[in-house]
Amino acid sequence: MANKLPEDMSFDDYDELVNPRPEETEFDAVVASAISRRGLLGGALAFGSFTALSGITAPNAASASTSRFAFDAIGASTADGIQVPAGYKVDIVARWGDPLFSDAPEFDEATRGTAASQERAFGDNSDGMDIIVHGDKLLLTVNNEYTNRAILWGNNPDGKAVTDDDVAKGMACHGVTVMEVAQNGDAWGVVKDSRFNRRITPQTDMAMTGPAAGHDLMKTAADPTGTTSKGTWNNCGNGMTPWGTYLACEENFNGYFSAADENHEVSPELARYGVSASDWGYGWAKIDDRFDVSKNPNEPNRAGYVVEIDATDPTSTPKKRTALGRFKHENAECVVNNDGRVVIYMGDDERGEFLYRYISDGVFAPGADTDDLMENGTLYAAKFADDGTGQWLELSEANTGMTKAEICIHTRQAASKMGATTMDRPEWVTANPNAAEVYCALTNNKNRGIKPNAGGDETSVGGPNPRENNQFGQIVRWWPDDADHTSATFAWDLYCLAGNPTVHEGLNAGSDNVTEANMFNSPDGIKFDSNGLLWIQTDGNYKNEGDFSGQGNNQMLAGDPVTGEIRRFMVGPNECEVTGLTWSPDRRTMFVGIQHPGERGNSHWPSGGTSVPRSAIVAVTREDGGLVG
Ligand code: FEO
Ligand code: CA
Ligand code: CA
Repeated sequence: MANKLPEDMSFDDYDELVNPRPEETEFDAVVASAISRRGLLGGALAFGSFTALSGITAPNAASASTSRFAFDAIGASTADGIQVPAGYKVDIVARWGDPLFSDAPEFDEATRGTAASQERAFGDNSDGMDIIVHGDKLLLTVNNEYTNRAILWGNNPDGKAVTDDDVAKGMACHGVTVMEVAQNGDAWGVVKDSRFNRRITPQTDMAMTGPAAGHDLMKTAADPTGTTSKGTWNNCGNGMTPWGTYLACEENFNGYFSAADENHEVSPELARYGVSASDWGYGWAKIDDRFDVSKNPNEPNRAGYVVEIDATDPTSTPKKRTALGRFKHENAECVVNNDGRVVIYMGDDERGEFLYRYISDGVFAPGADTDDLMENGTLYAAKFADDGTGQWLELSEANTGMTKAEICIHTRQAASKMGATTMDRPEWVTANPNAAEVYCALTNNKNRGIKPNAGGDETSVGGPNPRENNQFGQIVRWWPDDADHTSATFAWDLYCLAGNPTVHEGLNAGSDNVTEANMFNSPDGIKFDSNGLLWIQTDGNYKNEGDFSGQGNNQMLAGDPVTGEIRRFMVGPNECEVTGLTWSPDRRTMFVGIQHPGERGNSHWPSGGTSVPRSAIVAVTREDGGLVG
């Protein structure tokens, strides 16, 4: 089949190949004026300088006299293993393919398992995760975002699926894993046969809730009522509700659809989301007609949502929450506002897409029914001004001319109509537990100032996206006015601008809290710990040369939100991404996800020798048993 995603092409690049962007318009002038207006040329950006320029004082800007880091920074690394500071150690908790039940087989290096074995084993490429405390049980709930086809099918001569079972095995690598974990002496591991152990896959029955449920665009051959959905896939980041349920966020859902006729043309509405006649090489349409868009053009409308899962009830039906909008969801950061309303911040991870906020109509009261809180509410998209202020644009029927259901299905189009700010790929959002401030990683965007987004919206340089052809990424943060997360307006600055001060001067050197000692590129997973430190995980260029020389493998750092200091805490194995982070309730163990080690064939982590590389969750502890983070 033509046009399959090559292993060395990113998902975004492939989307652009099959859905070319509209022609460029007069960007050069816009770029030049935006940069000179800000006066940013010629010098590195100071930590908090956007705030200083606009005269806004951060609510928590008291200076800290002593470091809050309980570790010494480590150097960059290109070793095929995990590096952590002196006094810390790393143990494996669960690897892709590890069985969750004692009657399921151990991972088979020679075959990489079967569909049947994979359905009863930990999925592949772990991403967002949280520990859910249920009585005396710890339920590690983890997204399994996707699978590396060349590794999964590496036992076949050309590294591709041969049998239908190969395709079904790939499908079963996706979804969510709920697994009870426990510490036996020093070692963490999966409690096999726990009644909570569960795989949620692209075949699991789900309910469709909220404004889009039952809409004509949701009706398919598999469900003519439009009120259910089968399965979830490409779950990237996650969230936790105040009432203890888990949110799995559907990101690159489009890459699984194809058409038997490769000349089939999808609707503009589907093209905006990157759906095309070619999938990314997973081949699901070969075994399930749902994934053939020429036969089932509404099927992609049942994906791209936030899925609520009750990990404490293994018989519960996951709920797709359409009120939270449909886009390439990264994560969903929930905050209970001072007035009890639930505010959820969400990024749409694609070049030039938007940052969103949802506000529930109802208020959260512990113990009261919560089912309505993610069914009835309002979506907003962010608009940033260059002067360090911003506003939330309400995606209402009156403002967009769309029905509530249409806003929840074609959310990108609604935000485009409102003129929201096109962003440098919004990844995770995280809220500071100690202040009314929120951070979002903007991972990179080589199209900034060069090409419009998939909807034709301009991506001019400026505001929180200050660099043309942004290779390194940045972290933006904002303070809701009056410390009220439902305020229509906010103040913002850049917490850091990643860069390489050993190669570049000016903006590509990064902000002044980025140095030769801590530099990195492409911040992606970010999460505050309960102590108020910001953990930063990267999914970037690991070539360690050119623009990225000296940055080594992907890594995890910790940032102090007050002083701006950033220290490197962990470096992952070759060709991995570090993503997913949670803690044991006593905070003496930090769980970290290692995704796609050896995605280009150059890792044997974690088992070493000539073994198959496998994504895995690791436990990081201190040798003295102290708190981590
Ligand atoms: Fe799955 Fe945006 O990372
Ligand atoms: Ca991510
Ligand atoms: Ca990413």
